[in-house]
Amino acid sequence: MNMEERLAQLEKYREKIKGGGGPKRIAKQHESGKLTARERIEILLDEGSFVEVGVFVGKSDLANLENPGEGVVVGQGTIDGRLVYVYAQDFTVSGGSLSKAHADKICKVMDLALKNGAPCIGLNDSGGARIQEGVDSLDGYGNIFYRNTISSGVIPQISAILGPCAGGAVYSPALTDFIFMVNGISRMFITGPQVIKAVTGEDVSAEELGGALTHNQKSGVAHFLAESEEESFQQIRTLLSYLPSNNMEDPPMAAPVAPELDPEELLSIIPDSPNQGYDMRDVLMRIVDGGSYFEVQPLWAQNGITAFGRINGRPVGILANQPKVLAGCLDIDVSDKLARFVRFCNAFNIPLLTFEDVPGFLPGTNQEYGGIIRHGAKMLYAYSEATVPKITIILRKAYGGAYLAMCGKPLGCDVAFAWPTAEIAVMGPEGAANIIYRKEIENADDPIAMRQEMVQRYRDEVSNPFIATARGYVEDIIDPRETRSRLVATLEALANKRESRPVKKNGNIPV
Ligand code: HXC
Repeated sequence: MNMEERLAQLEKYREKIKGGGGPKRIAKQHESGKLTARERIEILLDEGSFVEVGVFVGKSDLANLENPGEGVVVGQGTIDGRLVYVYAQDFTVSGGSLSKAHADKICKVMDLALKNGAPCIGLNDSGGARIQEGVDSLDGYGNIFYRNTISSGVIPQISAILGPCAGGAVYSPALTDFIFMVNGISRMFITGPQVIKAVTGEDVSAEELGGALTHNQKSGVAHFLAESEEESFQQIRTLLSYLPSNNMEDPPMAAPVAPELDPEELLSIIPDSPNQGYDMRDVLMRIVDGGSYFEVQPLWAQNGITAFGRINGRPVGILANQPKVLAGCLDIDVSDKLARFVRFCNAFNIPLLTFEDVPGFLPGTNQEYGGIIRHGAKMLYAYSEATVPKITIILRKAYGGAYLAMCGKPLGCDVAFAWPTAEIAVMGPEGAANIIYRKEIENADDPIAMRQEMVQRYRDEVSNPFIATARGYVEDIIDPRETRSRLVATLEALANKRESRPVKKNGNIPV
């Protein structure tokens, strides 16, 4: 063959592979409301930026291709001009099932992403292990899990679930940093409805068992919910705008933008009654740069907030109690949610802003039997371990262990501010007065009035923010309207913070 003929053959094989499982299966994919692997990549990445690698991995007999592309499309491209690596499983080829060659292609981009310090994005749509291949396929999964773990904390790893994802296949996404799901098409489970029916007799639909709502609201496995694939890809692009490409870089700065809502209104958000809730987002939207608030796991463990934002163009990780849900108490799920977010931000040099209004840990046998001690300890561990700038703003309640768990000063918090409404103490004034002034209350002519007097006394004498400031646990008591300007100055001052820890193989976070 001369060069021309060779090039024609190359083009023919390339086109064959690009055709995936063929027009019929592509039509079926579209009918089920899903895009194809290549369409997905086109929408996710900057226009025309995709460069495919490993096109011919797998079969050397290209004239008789059985599984074009081995059911996965892999390569590099850019998002907002920054390098990313991507793989997209092709459900039109053997249901996107994972053969050894399929896994090799994924491992190839995972290795390139790690070596070149760029995020790795997986678009999952697969029937799981290629059943015909047996143990080779399992080996392929193992190779992916191993790379997920080695890359963790070095490059951001992102998973979109865009079809079925069953059996051990869910564990690669679970090992990545963020999971995106689309309502109606994403499914994740270890054992499917039929196995569950056979083993436990339980009837459950695939959607109810492992759909996008289930994992965004109930299990906390997923982090973002979208109504369409396009929306999901936009969410991925937004997320990446807050992240550095790897752990050696700082997160990307953006142009500063004034807050969306009027900071003057910060004076009236906290209700006069300490027992009344409010929406912490009303506070945050008056502090962060306009249009920069991006919440992570907004539908799960809603008594706490985790979000990315920017302050004067600088990306930050925001952690907050949410007083309008469970009064903002810490429980098992929210401890997991917050601790994991702290560790992600710390790994990728994103400063932590903690907004605190927390009455304590949620009481109850459910919580104790579920191991709130172990889960709550994760927050203490994660905050103590973190060496990025750590700033805490105490808005109202900061009681007991929860005061410390929300990045209290001794956990290495660099700067703590309190609003004048802050109450910092071992417990709430009501509970405290009942214990330490019990005799006075019991012996009073009017115990109710005396109790109220003692509650106020505790509030004035013990839990007011001036005491914490006098002891140096809080740097300053600030006018709420100054919160943003104080954060801007403090973040700038801490921008070059360097803190080291003793060398170790790994710590032993209470997982
Ligand atoms: C080989 C597979 C396959 C698989 C699907 N196909 N799954 N081929 N290995 N695991 C093929 C089908 O034969 C079919 O081929 C095509 O993909 C599309 O599948 P359909 O069944 O027609 O599609 P749909 O009705 O949408 O159902 C999708 C599905 C179902 C729910 C994923 O195919 C299914 O249940 N598959 C098996 C799932 C499974 O048990 N996987 C193993 C999990 S255990 P044709 O030629 O007709 O188009 C596992 C272990 C991993 O993954 C452990 C890691 C540690």
